Amino acid sequence: MYKPKDYRLVIGNTEYFPLMIGGMGVDVSTSAMVLEAARLGCIGHLSDAMVPALCDRYFGTTFSKNKAERHRLLQAEEHIPDRIPQFNLQEYRLAQIQYVSETVEKKKGAGGVYINCMEKLQIGTARDNLEVRLLASLDAGVDGITLSAGLHSNSMKMMSEHPRFRDVKIGIIVSSWRALRLFLMAAKRADRMPDYIVVEGPLAGGHLGFGDDWTQYNLKDIFTEVLMNIEKEGLKIPVIPAGGIFDADDIVSYIGMGASGVQVATRFTVTKESGLTDTAKQAFFEAEENDVFVSSVSPTGYPIRLLRSSPCLNSNVPPHCLMYGYAMDAKGHCQYIDAYNATGVTESGKKLPVVEKVCLCYHISRYDTWTCGASVVRLKDTVHRNQDGMYPLPTTEEVIQDYLGERIPQGSESE
Ligand SMILES: Cc1cc2nc3c(=O)[nH]c(=O)nc-3n(C[C@H](O)[C@H](O)[C@H](O)COP(=O)(O)O)c2cc1C
Repeated sequence: MYKPKDYRLVIGNTEYFPLMIGGMGVDVSTSAMVLEAARLGCIGHLSDAMVPALCDRYFGTTFSKNKAERHRLLQAEEHIPDRIPQFNLQEYRLAQIQYVSETVEKKKGAGGVYINCMEKLQIGTARDNLEVRLLASLDAGVDGITLSAGLHSNSMKMMSEHPRFRDVKIGIIVSSWRALRLFLMAAKRADRMPDYIVVEGPLAGGHLGFGDDWTQYNLKDIFTEVLMNIEKEGLKIPVIPAGGIFDADDIVSYIGMGASGVQVATRFTVTKESGLTDTAKQAFFEAEENDVFVSSVSPTGYPIRLLRSSPCLNSNVPPHCLMYGYAMDAKGHCQYIDAYNATGVTESGKKLPVVEKVCLCYHISRYDTWTCGASVVRLKDTVHRNQDGMYPLPTTEEVIQDYLGERIPQGSESE
């Protein structure tokens, strides 16, 4: 009986175990988690969401304060009250390089340090900012870039002049053949096909690449459709399913269907290396079916799967666009600002809870937007609950070994 560890995911000229840990923003797939994946011969993804804010937290930089201060000064000088707070692209570049190279430089082992790059992050100047993030990630020496959250019709072209363009691994996450076909047309124009394709189904964590009709879709069908079309086009590109893949048997089953490997995330949210707080990790373990829902509260406009107990829900914090503003478009618009302004106050003047949207920048950077895949309800079956009622946290290594088919006991009584 074959186990996942007997297979290899071959991307370009590099062989990995057939397991990718997907990017989990903001800072849930931490540097420590990614380094463990690489050490053990798998692929780990950093997420490139809110990188300047993360540099401020980890390296003592002041990118977010600088942004706010610059805005205040400009406003005072030019008396334009509704000026949009802008990121400085040079600062953004420095932040991205620092953030990525800190992990790349520590890498040990034959696996890969990849980064998940989201096209749909608005950040005021969406196109320019995406280019900065892509090029800086290449400069910092990342092994691979997984393009996500968008169609990425220009991303290949943006990187085409970079000396590492032909060597770095480049992949894309899609949720339909239709979206992939559009991307492949753009990739052809840039004379650079992707090295792998991640097909993400509706049971995944984070934002979903589906509309409100997400229940109408399932991963197996989308994966098969993509695989068939790739073959029909005469392309040889590894196809990697994601969303709800929970154990070694699931991996073997997908490999049997033609997958080259899998991308997973939810099981790693509760590991010791995950960036989530211990409170969130325990809530993830405790989750039952009724505690999970697909919500429209994200100001990005995409559905996001959340725990109902997420502290971000019904919060009424003022919009945090001065320091952050990662979801703000070029016109200074963010759906949370609208929802906040439309929400009234109590008779005593206290702001009522904002129900429709959340300030994603503020909450996700505080780890209280508890997003997870639908399989979160199965996490409790993966460890033995402690006598005090707490769930012990497995290490990233333990979860990887479990996925690869090397059953070893997970989690230990917390010290
Ligand atoms: C906490 C969390 C955060 C996520 N953040 C992102 C993200 O920033 N960008 C992205 O493309 N996918 C994101 N995802 C999706 C994962 O990378 C992955 O493709 C998916 O969750 C796999 O399904 P699974 O969680 O059922 O294993 C996130 C998933 C989780 C659980």
